[in-house]
Amino acid sequence: MNYNNKKLLKTLQGHKFNTPPVWLMRQAGRYLPEYREVRKQAGSFLDLCYNPTLTTEVTLQPLRRFNLDGAILFADILLIPNALGQHLEFKEGIGPILEPLKNNEDIENLRNTEDIHSTLEPVYEAVTNIRSKLETNITFIGFAGSPWTVATYMIEGKGSKDHIKTKTFMLNYPQVFKKLIVKIQDATIEYLSKQIEAGVDVIKLFDSWANSLPAIYIEKYSLEPMKVIAKEIKKRFPNIPVIVFPRGIGPMYKKFAMVKEFDCVAVDSSIDLDWAKKNIQKEIVIQGNLDPAYLISGGKELVEGTLNIVNKFSSSGHIFNLGHGITPDAKIHNVELLLKTIKEKN
Ligand code: CP3
Repeated sequence: MNYNNKKLLKTLQGHKFNTPPVWLMRQAGRYLPEYREVRKQAGSFLDLCYNPTLTTEVTLQPLRRFNLDGAILFADILLIPNALGQHLEFKEGIGPILEPLKNNEDIENLRNTEDIHSTLEPVYEAVTNIRSKLETNITFIGFAGSPWTVATYMIEGKGSKDHIKTKTFMLNYPQVFKKLIVKIQDATIEYLSKQIEAGVDVIKLFDSWANSLPAIYIEKYSLEPMKVIAKEIKKRFPNIPVIVFPRGIGPMYKKFAMVKEFDCVAVDSSIDLDWAKKNIQKEIVIQGNLDPAYLISGGKELVEGTLNIVNKFSSSGHIFNLGHGITPDAKIHNVELLLKTIKEKN
């Protein structure tokens, strides 16, 4: 294997390169005209997610345009609730709508963990397809949502800013809530195991709403379930690194950096770089954290903002990424400028 082979995977294994590997959250998506074209062809967003030919195509699209080091499987964190039997649709201009879970009975009525695969089979088929088509220097990232973030959608029945329903449920019915978390956790372990068997190199757990939890619950409902998942994945597949992204939790990121089952902590754009270097990167590989708005604004600010992050994290393990997903109004020439800035840095 040549030294530059799978730079992203090797960074997670402790190798150091002159410039960091880079990939972008939501690198496949609506800012790409070729994505919008396939999306139209597919019909609904879920039809796209469950069509292995089309998900293979959209996973590969950003790799054809840009000099990226990673490919992320095209799927969604809400496929797990759907596979557990919860009705799901994505409404144009609104987002995901699910039949909300209201009580213990609704949770008891979810499908058994072993029964998720019939729904998720097209995802595993897509992984096999993508693996066979990827250049050998590209690291293939599989993913799932964290149990907490997935639970917020299952209880709210839609996206929410404050997650009041979920938190009230958690506080009023702790045992029932814990049962739901364990259910998602177990389903996620089986789902990710199948992704790994089909060919992904790395796993990422998205905890997009970790910041909604009261700080005293972050360990119990964000960190712990992700740790259980990572531990079991490591037991089954000792060489697969796990990246965690508990978004928006400020100083609590430090707790995640200390967990031996995690290989990388992804941080959002609100995190101070000096603090992160001292408190996170000292312990673990760090991923992040340019604000997605720079890919709309572009110019000198984009170049300087990018170099600032690259330089700050240059002394040890760093994967360059955004602090959150690319937005639909990101400009393609700004993504090109971002990559040129990193790759041509000396
Ligand atoms: O390129 C990639 O990053 C891979 C694919 C991917 C998608 N969703 C595709 C998608 C990934 C990794 C996700 C993760 C995801 N999904 C998260 C965690 C990351 C984050 O952004 O915080 C969350 C919270 C979801 C749930 C979800 N999916 C919502 C709330 C929405 C609607 C909001 C929106 O952006 O439209 C989606 C839809 C979705 N998932 C789209 C894409 C490309 C856009 C839908 C479309 O094309 O019509």
